[in-house]
Amino acid sequence: MREAEKICVVTGASGGIGSCLVKKFTAAGSHVVMIGMAEAELEKTAETAGLPAERFSCYEADISDEEQVKTMVSRLRDRFGRADVLVNAAGIVGQYAETIDYSFANFRRIYEVNVFGTFLMMQNILPLMIEQRKGAIVNFGSVSGMRGYAYEIGYGSSKWAVIGMTQNAANEYGRYGIRINCVSPGWVNTGMMQATLESYRRLGMKGCEDSICLGALGRPARPEDIANAVYFLCSDEACHITGANLVVDGGMLLG
Ligand SMILES: NC(=O)c1ccc[n+]([C@@H]2O[C@H](COP(=O)([O-])OP(=O)(O)OC[C@H]3O[C@@H](n4cnc5c(N)ncnc54)[C@H](O)[C@@H]3O)[C@@H](O)[C@H]2O)c1
Repeated sequence: MREAEKICVVTGASGGIGSCLVKKFTAAGSHVVMIGMAEAELEKTAETAGLPAERFSCYEADISDEEQVKTMVSRLRDRFGRADVLVNAAGIVGQYAETIDYSFANFRRIYEVNVFGTFLMMQNILPLMIEQRKGAIVNFGSVSGMRGYAYEIGYGSSKWAVIGMTQNAANEYGRYGIRINCVSPGWVNTGMMQATLESYRRLGMKGCEDSICLGALGRPARPEDIANAVYFLCSDEACHITGANLVVDGGMLLG
């Protein structure tokens, strides 16, 4: 299918990585369904990016709320009748603390957004893809979901879960021509990275600015570095890739 005919659904569309991806999809001629917590924020993102009006639609939904996800997907189905791509970029990093200090409310909220939200979006979009006998989904893991970094029991373990769910679902829906993959970034220069560094400073961690240069490439990713990898996994050029976890970390996990 030509990119120009695709309907691409992106959660976290006004975020650092999501907004970059929206630009990439629309530049290729796809129509992007932008999903986020506030419609005004999505509209602003589209305006700042200079997106042509016919290339995007904004849908407000908290992805952790089952009713909101169901309503939003049903509106999307009525309007477009299909969904060729789903990118689950929405996520929160939440609290940084040692396990004994971690608030259960924070732990639960991280799971509600990162784990339940990704699950709910897959569960509600997959029926459209099954009808089409085709589709591509990309979820967001993290290197935090591949190593046991300190202070991240909430965020880190939620990302292990996302990587796991990606493999469960990929195994189930390959027979319908649906590919489901994960991208796991290291440091990416967005608001989330700044918030993480701020938390490290509050915890009194020394040399936290240096940690963003730990990878072999010596710099954090730009949002577009991650968007390029996601775009590839969504494209027909990745037609034989499913269940993969593509690490885009500038060599951070090399140690
Ligand atoms: N920035 C990094 O260093 C980094 C590293 C590894 C993985 N990631 C992952 O990449 C993804 C994108 O991160 P980013 O850096 O663009 O973050 P970001 O904070 O810039 O954007 C995240 C977006 O998710 C949205 N969101 C949060 N909760 C939501 C909810 N309940 N419903 C709907 N939308 C919601 C926010 O409004 C925001 O637009 C996330 O899943 C994140 O965990 C980021």
